[in-house]
Amino acid sequence: MRIDIITVVPELLVSPLNESILKRAQQKGLVEIAVHNLRDYTFDRYRQVDDYPFGGEAGMVMKPEPIFRCIEQLQSERTYDEVIYTSPDGIRYNQHEANRLSTLGNIVILCGHYKGIDYRVREHLITLEISIGDYVLTGGELAAAIIADSVVRVIPGAIGDEASALTDSFQDNLLAPPVYTRPADFRGWKVPDVLLSGNPKEIAKWQEEQAFERTERLRPDLLDPQSV
Ligand code: ADE
Repeated sequence: MRIDIITVVPELLVSPLNESILKRAQQKGLVEIAVHNLRDYTFDRYRQVDDYPFGGEAGMVMKPEPIFRCIEQLQSERTYDEVIYTSPDGIRYNQHEANRLSTLGNIVILCGHYKGIDYRVREHLITLEISIGDYVLTGGELAAAIIADSVVRVIPGAIGDEASALTDSFQDNLLAPPVYTRPADFRGWKVPDVLLSGNPKEIAKWQEEQAFERTERLRPDLLDPQSV
């Protein structure tokens, strides 16, 4: 899989995408991540990527030309399954979408900025608009990093313990059960006996009950079939 990220602030993406699991996944050849500076696709002296909005509202709008130039250049080199735009008015991102994106061949993520992008980009180039939550960030870079991170970690082989991606919170619409490590008694707070029992069936049953109880208490919306 290949993920191309287009941004006006590439510095924001360097370290989140090049450490730990994402770094190893790239070294193993499971994914290739390329970051493109949108200003490299401008032709003017000031490398201008934004302009005043028609209609006279406050704020700047990202110009269509550099974006089309950049994405069409990428599309001439390979095919892309999705051209994603990060925006607070996109569809709300979740684990199901991360799983789906991880099965695709190549994706582009265009990071939003300023007041938004010229609507013609959204109409004619973008295939999917994603919001990572109902709040507004200063730009789409952190959203793009979150999408890339969540997609890469579910690619088979990306995390050491294959089973653990599948037992994550949200994979089955349940929050994860509590986990513990040594010591079994810390300041008098004891690890539940069942986890020390060595009985895999009992442990699995306890974990399932805990996951269900925590979900019901903390995120009842996940148990509502309408919410997915
Ligand atoms: N850009 C600004 N806010 C955002 C959000 N909530 N999700 C995705 N991109 C954004």
